[in-house]
Amino acid sequence: MSDSSRPYPDLHAHLEALKAEGLLLTIDEPIDKDAELHALVRWQFVGGIEEAQRKAFLFTNVVNAHGRKYAMPVVVGAIAANRAIYSIGMGVPVEKIQTKWDHALAHPVKPTLVTNAACHEVVIEGEALKGEGHGLDMLPIPVSTPGFDSAPTLTATNVVTRDPETGVQNMGTYRAALKAPDRLVVRMATRVGGAGGYQHYLKHQKRGDKTMPCAIVLGCPPYVAFMGPQKLPIDMDEFDVAGGLAGAPINVVKAKTVDLLVPAEAEIVIEGFIDTEYVEPEAPFGESHGHVALEEYNMPMRITAITHRKDAVIPSYISQVAPSESSVIKRVAYEPLFTSHLRSTLGIRGVKRVSLHEPLTGLLRVTLITVEKGTPRTEIWRALEGAAFFKGDCGKICVAINDDIDPDNADALLWAMAYRMNPVEDVRTLPHRGQGHGPKRESDDEEDSTLLMDATMKGDMPPLALPTQEYMERAKKIWERLKLPALRPQAPWYGYSLGDWLPQWDAAAKRAATGDYLENGRISEKQQQKGLKPETKFRPDG
Ligand SMILES: Cc1cc2nc3c(=O)[nH]c(=O)nc-3n(C[C@H](O)[C@H](O)[C@H](O)COP(=O)(O)O)c2cc1C
Repeated sequence: MSDSSRPYPDLHAHLEALKAEGLLLTIDEPIDKDAELHALVRWQFVGGIEEAQRKAFLFTNVVNAHGRKYAMPVVVGAIAANRAIYSIGMGVPVEKIQTKWDHALAHPVKPTLVTNAACHEVVIEGEALKGEGHGLDMLPIPVSTPGFDSAPTLTATNVVTRDPETGVQNMGTYRAALKAPDRLVVRMATRVGGAGGYQHYLKHQKRGDKTMPCAIVLGCPPYVAFMGPQKLPIDMDEFDVAGGLAGAPINVVKAKTVDLLVPAEAEIVIEGFIDTEYVEPEAPFGESHGHVALEEYNMPMRITAITHRKDAVIPSYISQVAPSESSVIKRVAYEPLFTSHLRSTLGIRGVKRVSLHEPLTGLLRVTLITVEKGTPRTEIWRALEGAAFFKGDCGKICVAINDDIDPDNADALLWAMAYRMNPVEDVRTLPHRGQGHGPKRESDDEEDSTLLMDATMKGDMPPLALPTQEYMERAKKIWERLKLPALRPQAPWYGYSLGDWLPQWDAAAKRAATGDYLENGRISEKQQQKGLKPETKFRPDG
């Protein structure tokens, strides 16, 4: 397929773009996909490496413990090892990602059906799918959490199913465990607000269908890959929104053995039928909530075809404990949805930003809402409740803060809670929350609850007691001239006004820092008073 018929990058073009930006590492030495591959990439999330320094890893020499060599390379982190990588896939700088999502959701573009597709360059069917080393077993599918996981598992999936009643397709990122060369077990969340594919499964069951057609797509063009984890309204076709992101129709092709449309430029498509009668144990698997999901019954899928490009690369997402690729993908996708829900749907103009807390808590549990100083209290509470109840499995703990608090800095957050919140007035707990995605079983009847906190300033406060920006910057130049250890400024690193500050104090501070402090003593001498208790307030503005 020529580039002129594809005005958006496929995975190969995306990897080239990452390479050009120094964001792709190529590892040519043999790496064991089951014992070493994910653990190696994990180090960049737990090794004290800055987010901006994280890279995508392309493994060109993948092996297993039995000495088997795999023909296809594996790439981890190519969609979202960090925000810079995600933004290259999105074709816009990080700060424009939200606007691009908003625009795509408002302006979806229907896909174009093509007949000749790169993903059909190689077609494997029938007997060729059977036997060790064949079918799925020829794909280098890594083990994600060696030491806990029981199977190599596909994680970077776009799983396509069709609503048997409306004909609308759904595409979600669901994991699938390798069980046999022609069998996977797919896990679709069954909780309220869970997987769209599960709703299709239920409809097939209700109609008495014994199977559900399914296509597991790996290595989609990034605009399509981003759709898998995105939380769209049910019955919104992800291909249309991907077209909205691309600003052009996405090319789709009919799958070979199931009645489904798949992205034409995908690297690999695994076609088959999900059993709607029988379920099979799946997991343990290290989950994105940061705990290991223990064994549960999930959906066996019998494979009818594997199609792939001749030069196919198999992507794998690193998930489990946040931060991870999985949490970066979701964060960049979900935060704009929350912000737009509060600002546009609920019309709360004081909301500036919604941040989903990432390290360890993994986005779904702790939501920080940044509001403009002076936003009416009633609006802050509307924002807290709006964020808590926007999605069934998000927002267990919601905290409103002002924009001088960095939502990614837990110390700053505790500082706001310590000085700006009166627990009796500014904290509420609410009953009736489902367990959501977490180590407790999602199907449990036991309820969780919600905690809302208003940690915003309730009025003007005195400045933060650090030298102001001009003095800190001046001192930084000296620090660097003295060749002292490299600085990594941590906000807040300079003092700023929090509203309660007067021009007279500004002038006095200026005099104090420029050697004229005795003048301040002459002024205050004239302001002496008799008979007042020490620590009585004095304001030079009267
Ligand atoms: C790496 C990764 C793995 C995921 N695994 C699963 C999974 O196994 N099952 C599931 O239901 N959701 C999983 N999710 C979350 C879904 O992709 C997400 O809820 C998405 O909205 C589902 O699409 P849907 O709304 O069309 O069902 C995963 C997300 C990521 C990023």
